[in-house]
Amino acid sequence: MKKEKIEFELTIFDGFDELSDDSKSLMQQAVEARRNAYAPYSKFQVGAAVLLENDEVIIGNNQENASYPSGLCAERVAIFYAGAKYPGVAIKSVAITATSKNYQVQTPAAPCGNCRQAMSEYEVKQKSPIKVLLMGESGPVYECNSISDILPLGFDSSYL
Ligand code: THU
Repeated sequence: MKKEKIEFELTIFDGFDELSDDSKSLMQQAVEARRNAYAPYSKFQVGAAVLLENDEVIIGNNQENASYPSGLCAERVAIFYAGAKYPGVAIKSVAITATSKNYQVQTPAAPCGNCRQAMSEYEVKQKSPIKVLLMGESGPVYECNSISDILPLGFDSSYL
């Protein structure tokens, strides 16, 4: 028997102002997308902006439904639309931000497990890492180097 430790590197910026100009621009587009989220039930609004290799940016926001499971997270709205509009174009990075009508979101909003799995599919397919930027409405910004970092031991097509 042996034990292994799985670690990943997380870059923590003190706030939005510390980001590079490119990251600021992508995060700003996620913030704008967040404003159009349809989240009447959870009151938790999420915006995502996906930067592609061809420099196009595709945005998404969460779309809820009276039949709760029929809704979809911001990340999957964005990444599926990116796949639909630009099939085969690699994804460089994704910025995700969340706000709530119930409290001030001061910690970065981490993507749910389903969204990590969905984003992992594209990372595995394109064979290059997708950078992830995470932010609340204020407070620190997290930068992760890849989806596989935040989905260790992930399931992919190699098992099929
Ligand atoms: N949500 C996202 O859009 N992304 C996530 O990764 C976590 C959760 C949305 C889904 C739902 O509309 C609301 O946030 C509360 O769960």
